[in-house]
Amino acid sequence: MNITIFGTGYVGLVTGTCLAEMGNHVLCVDIDEAKVAGLKSGVIPIYEPGLESMVKSNTAAGRLDFTTDASRAVAFADIQFIAVGTPPDEDGSADLRHVLKVAETIGQHMERTTIVVDKSTVPVGTADRVRLTISEQLTQRGVSLEFDVVSNPEFLKEGDAVKDCMRPDRIIIGSENQRSIERMRTLYAPFNRNHDRLVVMDTRSAELTKYAANAMLATKISFMNEIANIAERVGADIEMVRHGIGSDPRIGYSFIYAGVGYGGSCFPKDVQALERTSRQIGYEAKLLSAVEEVNRAQKQRLFQHISRHYQGRLQGKTFAIWGLAFKPNTDDMREAPSRALLASLWSVGAKVRAFDPEAMDEARQAFGERPDLQLCDSSDEAVLGADALIVITEWKQFRSPDFGRLAAHLSDKVVFDGRNVFEPDVVEEAGLAYYGIGRGRSV
Ligand code: UGA
Repeated sequence: MNITIFGTGYVGLVTGTCLAEMGNHVLCVDIDEAKVAGLKSGVIPIYEPGLESMVKSNTAAGRLDFTTDASRAVAFADIQFIAVGTPPDEDGSADLRHVLKVAETIGQHMERTTIVVDKSTVPVGTADRVRLTISEQLTQRGVSLEFDVVSNPEFLKEGDAVKDCMRPDRIIIGSENQRSIERMRTLYAPFNRNHDRLVVMDTRSAELTKYAANAMLATKISFMNEIANIAERVGADIEMVRHGIGSDPRIGYSFIYAGVGYGGSCFPKDVQALERTSRQIGYEAKLLSAVEEVNRAQKQRLFQHISRHYQGRLQGKTFAIWGLAFKPNTDDMREAPSRALLASLWSVGAKVRAFDPEAMDEARQAFGERPDLQLCDSSDEAVLGADALIVITEWKQFRSPDFGRLAAHLSDKVVFDGRNVFEPDVVEEAGLAYYGIGRGRSV
């Protein structure tokens, strides 16, 4: 099949590449000329394991191409994916400007029966707005063409995006039109082997499913962070509690790690957007507000430990920071807990020596040159001349450091572990003080 994808961000680029990998011909369109030129020559704007080689091989095979020419893109296919960003606007609701602009473009150039697929995370009712926008354009042009708008939300995780896209847990198709449902079934057939992962429902339920999934996952994290805060105060260890509850299959082991709070471009934005949608329809989503509030506070939790350890005397202290990305296996620092921590450290006159395996360019862009920040080439270098170590992102390479070496270099002999990656006993045996999250036994 021929497929057009609007937007070459995470979702658009990964979806387009995986569809090309399955033998489709895919044209990705973006308004960013530099990005399109880069992609055409194999420059991938994001760090995502497995993506670069797949983009290159499919481009070389002639199945994947990039353009800024919207009219060419609309003419290319009768299935048009909308995968552009929906950033939060000032009040937290999703800003649909880009999505509706693409709908307008499709309506302006459409020449045949078309299926428009919403892949972006969009509030309930957006498919109807996309439909209306396209109809208005067709009316203005005085043409009558059949089209349908399908909601097909994406569930990929950064760092695992290619895997999630090639082997999805589920494929949600929201449509009331039998013909569109069959086309989508055919398109996804190669991703849907062994057992049927396709879940067909109405468009509004599909739109809400996406928000519900992210809100549920965010709730699990905030819940565990709340229990961690209780554990700290009652002398219990959240890591023990996690093992204890995860063995119940109704709870499960995944996504119950306490830490410095969730970040990234999805959870904070989507929880707020769902809360905002609820408010607009006169429903106060109390649980969602609490999930966000707990997360905001959690991003300060490690700083509170640091401040307490130093009795507020942080002026002139130097901290080695391991990890800046919002989670491992990505260079993404959007809403990263590291940002909140660094801001707090700088506000009290502390200095930072930071290292992240992938996010150094992001960090350079985010923070620029400043006297209280030294970006280092390795985790070992970050520790040189530092008073204490802070771990914010649980990259695998940080998990087994030489604690003896750390004890020799860190002049204040203390480790603040925002992701509970170390065993407190092991750290303490090396002569270092240890602070984790929710580990009451060591506080
Ligand atoms: C999330 C969802 O997991 C995807 O299913 C969804 O498709 C995506 O958003 C989206 O809407 O596009 P992502 O933002 O890539 O994916 O990141 P996650 O792996 O979900 O992690 C989010 C945050 O939660 C990270 O900061 C991570 O460190 C934190 N986290 C995760 C915890 O603090 N504890 C956990 O147990 C798990």
